[in-house]
Amino acid sequence: MLFKQQALLRQKLFVLGSLAIGSLLYLVARVGSLDRLQPLCPIENRLGPRGRADFPARALQFKRGLLHEFRKGNATKDQIRLHNLVQQLPQAIIIGVRKGGTRALLEMLNLHPAVVKASQEIHFFDNDENYARGIEWYRRKMPFSHPHQITIEKSPAYFITEEVPERIYKMNSSIKLLIIVREPTTRAISDYTQVLEGKERKNKTYYKFEKLAIDPNTCEVNTKYKAVRTSVYTKHLERWLKYFPIEQFHMVDGDRLITEPLPELQLVEKFLNLPPRISRYNLYFNATRGFYCLRFNIVFNKCLAGSKGRIHPEVDPSVITKLRKFFHPFNQKFYQITGRKLNWP
Ligand code: A3P
Repeated sequence: MLFKQQALLRQKLFVLGSLAIGSLLYLVARVGSLDRLQPLCPIENRLGPRGRADFPARALQFKRGLLHEFRKGNATKDQIRLHNLVQQLPQAIIIGVRKGGTRALLEMLNLHPAVVKASQEIHFFDNDENYARGIEWYRRKMPFSHPHQITIEKSPAYFITEEVPERIYKMNSSIKLLIIVREPTTRAISDYTQVLEGKERKNKTYYKFEKLAIDPNTCEVNTKYKAVRTSVYTKHLERWLKYFPIEQFHMVDGDRLITEPLPELQLVEKFLNLPPRISRYNLYFNATRGFYCLRFNIVFNKCLAGSKGRIHPEVDPSVITKLRKFFHPFNQKFYQITGRKLNWP
């Protein structure tokens, strides 16, 4: 009899224990990683006394779960008011460069609890039709966030579009601007690969990279080819510098973000005045993809879409040499202006 009662008790304890562990796992999955559940003192410091009173740091973690629901469009007006949520204009923008790793950078920064990303490229400043819709249209495209969080959007076309610097300046002259660059020839080939894939999908004819990048009449680099022009970073940057001082820019080394993302992200955290919250835990190398992927918590992790990390076509080595020689002086100027020396050939 006594033995039976003990067995029953053990069974009950087992059920209760499983329930408790299950609930804990559910909470962690909904709310954020174990890492995120630690107190966020550095963020509190950044907020100042008002921010602290408005928003207890631990609650931030739970509200991140809610933010996700709201992003899916499930929020009522009352819920938005109740949770003190706002749609803020971006305090930082990843302005380019196309194929530099802009998506990886945005997604990785979004691992930070004080960062909220605009998922889509909004193309507000580079598209005249969108720009004509006004700043309020742009703001309403932003995700919900808490007032002390920062919103970041990325639209790589901003970097090369003439009108954009002035338009962004008019919105916020002290905005922080992130530029992610890759070795210019690699970036140009990546750009070509993306366009090529689109053409192949539509059964359209296409030329080889070599034919586009080299002018057949002069045998010199074809500076009219867009993929080449985009990689002349210094020319574009000079246009931006007419509106913003260099201190408002941060250059991210896109080649290093592929192989060693954490130190690059830590530099961005510093630039954005964010406490260091992205850790080794949040990034893991996925051998199948050949890239780092993101770990939000013990349950939720993700790699970037398959359109990121395409296999590049083989390019004639003499064309690569020619392009590298062409970009060299522009690269030197770029290092000089930005104060960031990158190891490009
Ligand atoms: P490739 O497709 O040429 O390899 P963007 O997002 O600006 O279009 O940049 C795409 C590039 O991001 C990819 O170029 C890829 O190399 C790079 N990238 C950087 N980190 C990555 C990651 N963790 N996963 C996938 N791609 C990554």
